[in-house]
Amino acid sequence: MAEQVSIHGQWSSRLAFILAATGSAVGLGNIWKFPYIAGENGGGAFVLIYLGCIILIGIPIMMAETMIGRHARLNPVNAMKKLALESGARSSWKYLGLMGVVAGFLILSYYSVIAGWAMAYVVRTGAGIFEGATADGVASIFKGLISDPERLMGWHTLFMLITMLVVARGVKGGLEKAVRFLMPTLFVLLFVLVGYAMNTDSFDKGLMFLFNPDFSKINGAGVLTAMGHAFFTLSLGMGAIMVYGSYLPNNVSIAKTTFAIAAADTLVALLAGAAIFPIVFANGLEPGAGPGLIFQTLPIAFGQMPGGALFGTLFFVLLVFAAISSSISLIEPAVAWIMERFSISRGMASFWCGLVTWFIGLGTIASFNIGEEVKFFGLTFFDLLDYLTANIMLPLGGLLIALFAGWIMLADKSREALEMKEGFVFMAWRFLVRFIAPLAVFVVFLKAIKVL
Ligand code: TRP
Repeated sequence: MAEQVSIHGQWSSRLAFILAATGSAVGLGNIWKFPYIAGENGGGAFVLIYLGCIILIGIPIMMAETMIGRHARLNPVNAMKKLALESGARSSWKYLGLMGVVAGFLILSYYSVIAGWAMAYVVRTGAGIFEGATADGVASIFKGLISDPERLMGWHTLFMLITMLVVARGVKGGLEKAVRFLMPTLFVLLFVLVGYAMNTDSFDKGLMFLFNPDFSKINGAGVLTAMGHAFFTLSLGMGAIMVYGSYLPNNVSIAKTTFAIAAADTLVALLAGAAIFPIVFANGLEPGAGPGLIFQTLPIAFGQMPGGALFGTLFFVLLVFAAISSSISLIEPAVAWIMERFSISRGMASFWCGLVTWFIGLGTIASFNIGEEVKFFGLTFFDLLDYLTANIMLPLGGLLIALFAGWIMLADKSREALEMKEGFVFMAWRFLVRFIAPLAVFVVFLKAIKVL
């Protein structure tokens, strides 16, 4: 029998998949979001819980998503439907795919706004305005940017246009090549920043904050944020990895590639934290400063180190590329589904998805300035979207994916689809997706709403 292939094509190799999935995983989540939510939730204990969630929940669910995608070779909506029917379950599992499509739109709508900040910082570092700037000066430059809705809209529009163009051309061609050299360069730059951090007088303090757990500093809501971030940072729970899995050739070990991707992703986040917190403490800043944290700390370092303008520009350029390779995975499930569902071209599907996302993004822009006071359940529009997606939709999607892989698909079917032998690794995976991951998500949900 000929090997089944997705109508959207296939990755050229195992490495291509690893690069694309790493490109999806490594992004603003690692460098922008992880440090600020770790800072807001007291550091060490939060980091430890996050790492636990990556290992016990994230990795098994990532394997499940990749497996479902590759086995079905369809977009997430149709993949869920096909495998459900094949397993004698209801076709309504397709709504899990649809929830993912919606989550993708919502996340990208604010992701693009933040990526816009990174683009604005390419220009600012390039112009050398951070040279010798004080912490206060850097903070006021940041404030100036986010309080200007027109500026933010300009960058958001540009970022969405780039994303739409890349997606319209198909996610395979250029992406492989770009990620292949951009990721390693980003790694090197993070090491340079950690090197700078070592030379501040607060390196120990920064590391202590990040790695010395103090569980009195975290509550149920913090645990939910840590778990939600494990999903966010690995791009799980909404079909992104599933759609990438649907382009994955057979005869590639899903377990090994998943470990590699999760390890690279975690390392980037920890390096970012190790660079940022020493700068925070050395300059008497607040670790809980919120979404502006990296934009108010890293420029201080670039302003002081030799060649800082150059390093800084390069850093923000790479951050923008990391954001692009993540963004495209946020709308690829929607684009693949819409193409098939409405029989329209990739270009048209990308255009419409991009337009809708762009429009929702205007709400996030306003939440940093003119709409700052507009609150939904006490949250700004940006905070609401972030909470709804990262803390609710992704874990819920992940929970259902785990239940599907562990309870709906027969053991032999999933083992075949994972191309694994019977043995410890398969047994461990199955135990995790059947019991540990669903239970953990459930318990954390109950803790967050204070039922437990
Ligand atoms: N993982 C990316 C980051 O950390 C963001 C991302 C890309 C994502 N695709 C996703 C998050 C799918 C959730 C779901 O920056």
